[in-house]
Formats: sequence, C-alpha cells, structure tokens
Amino acid sequence: MPKPRPAVIKMAPYSPPSSGREGKLRLDFNENTVGCSPRVLQFLRQKLSEEQLTIYPEYEKTREALSLYFQIPENQFLITNGTDEAIQVLINTYADNNDDVIILRPSYAMYKFYAEVAGAKVREISYRKSDLAFPVKSLIAKIRPTTKAVLISNPNNPTGTAIGIGDIIRILEAAPNSAVLIDEAYYEFYGVTALRLIDQYPNLFVSRTFSKAFGMAAMRIGVLFSQAGNVKFMHKAQSPYSVNTLAALAVRAAVEDKTYVENYALNAVEARDRLYEGFTKRGIKYYPSQANFVLFEAGQNAVAIRDALRSKGVLVRDRSYELPGTVRVTAGTAAQVARFFRALDEVLP
Ligand SMILES: Cc1ncc(COP(=O)(O)O)c(C=O)c1O
Repeated sequence: MPKPRPAVIKMAPYSPPSSGREGKLRLDFNENTVGCSPRVLQFLRQKLSEEQLTIYPEYEKTREALSLYFQIPENQFLITNGTDEAIQVLINTYADNNDDVIILRPSYAMYKFYAEVAGAKVREISYRKSDLAFPVKSLIAKIRPTTKAVLISNPNNPTGTAIGIGDIIRILEAAPNSAVLIDEAYYEFYGVTALRLIDQYPNLFVSRTFSKAFGMAAMRIGVLFSQAGNVKFMHKAQSPYSVNTLAALAVRAAVEDKTYVENYALNAVEARDRLYEGFTKRGIKYYPSQANFVLFEAGQNAVAIRDALRSKGVLVRDRSYELPGTVRVTAGTAAQVARFFRALDEVLP
C-alpha cells in the first residue's frame, strides 16, 4: 500500500452534512433559497448542443462578460471552480511545506483544508468572544515577515461579522510579504468590497463566487482577482479546464441579470431583519450579521434543535463544534423566515 504524504495523514477528514437536502427548506448552507435567475436556464437551453459538450471549455466570452460586470481588466483575474479552487490555487502558488499561513477561527473550513493539504503550518487567530468581532489588532500583531498567506472571509462565515476598508488596508500594510485573501462570498449582502484596492496593493487577492446570491452553487464557479503579475503565476498553478462549459455559459447570463441578484439580496437583507425581530421576541441571543445568515444561541440543545427542525423539513446548520451552543440559519425570504419560526416554536423545549 503506498504511503500518503504526512500532511494528509495528519489531516482531520472533512465531511459536509450535505445529502438529502432537496425539497426541504434549505437554511443551512447560505445558498440562494429561491433559485438563480430564470435567464440562466433559458440561456443554457439555448446554447447547449452535442458539439458544445464535445469541445473542451473555451472561456473567451466568459472572460469578457466578467470583465465588464466587475469592471476589472481581463489580465487581473482567474475564473475558478468556485472559491474553493481560488483558495487552492492561491495556496499552491504562495505556500510551501512548513510555510506560515494565518487564518481566523471560526471561519470557512476550506482555508485550513487547502493550507493543510499543502503541508503549510496553520496559525489560527480567534474572533473576539463577546461579540464575534474581527480581531484586527491581534491579527496584525501575529503577522511575520515570513507569513505566506492570510486568509480572511469578509463578511465571515459563520459569524456574519465584517471589517471595513480601513481595517483591510491596515492588514495589507502590515503584511507586505503575504498573499492576503479577502474572500467576498457574501459581498452582495454587505456592499463593501476591496476590489478597488487591487491596483494599489500587490499583496491583495479578492475572491467572489456565484454560489451564494447568484444561486449557482451546483455550477462551481468563482473569480479570483489580483494584480496582473500575480495572476500570471497563479494561472501557471491552475488546471487549464477546471471550470466546465455549463458553468462558463451560465455565468454569462447571470451577470446580465443584475436586477435579479440585487433584488434577491435586498429581500435577504430584509429577511435578516425579520430573523432579528423573531429572535428578540423570543429572548434568543443572536449576532448581527452583514451576510445572508444569522448565528444564534441555542444553548445545550443546539444539536437536538437542528435535528428536530430537520424532521419538520427545515434545515439549519449546527456550529456548536466550534462555537458552543450556536446554530446558523440562512436568511432567504420573509415567508421562509416565518416558516422557520413556526417550526422553531414547535421544537423549542
Ligand atoms: C466564506 C465562504 N467562502 C466561500 C464559500 C464557498 O464558495 P464556493 O461555493 O464558491 O466554493 C463559502 C460557502 O459556504 C463561504 O462561506
């Protein structure tokens, strides 16, 4: 039997609780809860042919459409197989075995995953306990001249908390030798972006995804932005056809229906307010969020509440393995929030 690399032997297995979700009220993965723009499916039906499926993917038109939508030149981004591939390519380009990589805790699990697969030494900085605020000062104090990457989700999953441009600049200036990733998976719900800093900061990397507000998680498509010189190197470390033709086509229609996404994000932000009201009314502590989900305190019964909600067809995500007693719920529409609270009232002890 061949022996795996030590880095892989050491890793804890990651198993997302992701089967049997279809048909349920999916408030567990921060996806779009109503579906992507109908124009995406229309476009796919119109464009798909036997020949399209025969040919290896071509990205020219997708690159043009993305450049126009994000207002960023084509040599300043990579199209990626979701944010996950963006993280992987960034790590593979900048971090070697035993290199120092900083992440926050709790945060999106894939930062640690890809850093560990690469054999990097991961250091984790905790979010502030009382209010789950981003620990700007302690992060800056922990950055070393040898730190190869700093991976930040803004707003953060699962805390929902975010930092502004001033703090992002402070971090960039404190880490001139590191690749600083600002993962903006929830940008559409927050409205603050580091994208416009790219020309100024050669150590800045920004990722966006079509998995959340755009409602295309199954497609696996995202974008990773940085200065052209960085993009050239990352391109070398990326598989040439990692984004499939369906995704490359779908995204062209998605960015043309800007109104659809803007309306969805507006609804989700309103639904988030309804969640706050509902939690306040029931005396349940929650953490104000800049994303399309809210983390709330369910106490010792977090897992039992998640399971009881599931039996009523409502999926939420237990996070008590990293923040004891907490559960995360996605904000979709007002009607879905109402259904969530009806189910919650039936299951609360
Ligand atoms: C912070 C963050 N980044 C990225 C992702 C996933 O991105 P993708 O589907 O683009 O790989 C998630 C999904 O939960 C997330 O919370």
